[in-house]
Amino acid sequence: MTEIAFLLNGTPVRMSGESPTRTLLDWLRESRGLTGTKEGCNEGDCGACTVMVTDAEGSRALNACILFLPQLAGKAVRTIEGIAGPAGQLHPVQQAMVDLHGSQCGFCTPGFVVSMATAHLNGATDHADHLAGNLCRCTGYAPILRAAKAAESAPVPDWMTADRDALTRTDFNLTEIPPGGSGGAGSPPGAFRPATSDALADWYLANPDATLVAGATDVGLWVTKQLRDLGRVAFLNGIADLQRIERQGDSIRIGAGVTIARLRTAIGADFPSLDEMLRRYASEQVRNAATIGGNIANGSPIGDGPPPLIAMGARLHLRRGPDRREIALEDFFLDYRKQDRQPGEFVEAVTIPARAPALRVYKLSKRFDQDISAVCGAFNVTVEGGRVAAARIAFGGMAGTPKRALTVEAALLDQPWTEATVQAAAAAMDRDFTPMTDMRASAAYRLEAARNMLVRYWHDLAGDPVSVLEVAP
Ligand SMILES: Cc1cc2nc3c(=O)[nH]c(=O)nc-3n(C[C@H](O)[C@H](O)[C@H](O)COP(=O)(O)OP(=O)(O)OC[C@H]3O[C@@H](n4cnc5c(N)ncnc54)[C@H](O)[C@@H]3O)c2cc1C
Ligand code: FES
Ligand code: FES
Repeated sequence: MTEIAFLLNGTPVRMSGESPTRTLLDWLRESRGLTGTKEGCNEGDCGACTVMVTDAEGSRALNACILFLPQLAGKAVRTIEGIAGPAGQLHPVQQAMVDLHGSQCGFCTPGFVVSMATAHLNGATDHADHLAGNLCRCTGYAPILRAAKAAESAPVPDWMTADRDALTRTDFNLTEIPPGGSGGAGSPPGAFRPATSDALADWYLANPDATLVAGATDVGLWVTKQLRDLGRVAFLNGIADLQRIERQGDSIRIGAGVTIARLRTAIGADFPSLDEMLRRYASEQVRNAATIGGNIANGSPIGDGPPPLIAMGARLHLRRGPDRREIALEDFFLDYRKQDRQPGEFVEAVTIPARAPALRVYKLSKRFDQDISAVCGAFNVTVEGGRVAAARIAFGGMAGTPKRALTVEAALLDQPWTEATVQAAAAAMDRDFTPMTDMRASAAYRLEAARNMLVRYWHDLAGDPVSVLEVAP
């Protein structure tokens, strides 16, 4: 029998025969009657479906609406029904929400409370960031943020650490369910959950038409919004070797399975401007699932990962069966949604330099938080003796692919690093890009914004204040 097993509010659950693309949200509500977890948008945008998921790495908030059941194998899930204590005692964040009037219609409240309880467990106090993925239509955020703050100093209730303790108990057999092969033990029919990238390489070579699922923050929407049948799927989130971040001399190798959240923790301090941009990449729940490999492989022209990586001179590592190759990241993006990836080939890792002190990344979107970029510009100019010795500039949102501004770079090279040089180079932006007009921005706006970002970069490196957006609770 094929099975998936995980802990649900402290109780082991096992299932077999489920579709591998059934979402946790649907299963909770339809099969378990746990209707506290709400469906708002069903696409990762509103946080009404937030659940807490715990594994060996810790506990994190995730959106149940774009989480497929096999992604939970061997983990612990806590829904809003498991946030109060066994005798009905309110969690400190629940009590604070009551005391400080953090709820009106209440539709968003379970999602907020799970996000807040997860942050409370992790000792996180940057509440505006942690709650940016939870939308409330009626209460307004001030009472909710006040409640999160008020609960900060309350001790973590015992029951909130029970999942972690259970998963590490040696007599607990949930994690012993083997990853298995296609249709083998531990996998639902049509799904493959490899434990190593070697196993993935063999299987994907034999099943090149299959869909790879990493964090499912893109793929999830193909199912929930486009109602697509994905056929055979491979879930990559159990592959430990794809989740490594290795410092190798002058470079850092980042496994394709590293989530945006982990990336920030691991390298954010080395690249503060990149970290600040990633703070505005989707939301806490999405960053906790989305991988850098998925962001690259998806090939979106408005993905936020590729521009800074290209500006840093990142190299992409691809694998097909036993064969590996390495290319410049910018060469991966051939045309709109067309990448240099052969059938059966997958992204293994991306390598970046260990230092990029001149790197700056600017994300321009209609909303500050939880929004897709209209333009994302990344700049990495090396100035030596007052002249430009090297320049790498890349944009998202300006073409059918993430793309370097080669003409602008050439206009800067060997020139004195002055505002006049920068203004002249910015004028060449329309030779590199013919952006499109869509709901996010017009072509003319995009072009002007890209030019202005270059000027902003010059001021930024000169030490002038350039940030006009400050959000504080
Ligand atoms: C609410 C919301 C907000 C978002 N906001 C942003 C944002 O601000 N900025 C941004 O850039 N993106 C954003 N996204 C998009 C998404 O989060 C990213 O593209 C994400 O990084 C995808 O990673 P994933 O692991 O979830 O990929 P998945 O959805 O699992 O996969 C995406 C694609 O990559 C393929 N794939 C995954 N891993 C590999 C691999 N190792 N090798 C080859 N192919 C692979 C899959 O088959 C699929 O084609 C948002 C998404 C949502 C739902
Ligand atoms: S229902 Fe909106 S994020 Fe899941
Ligand atoms: S209380 Fe009504 S949506 Fe938040």
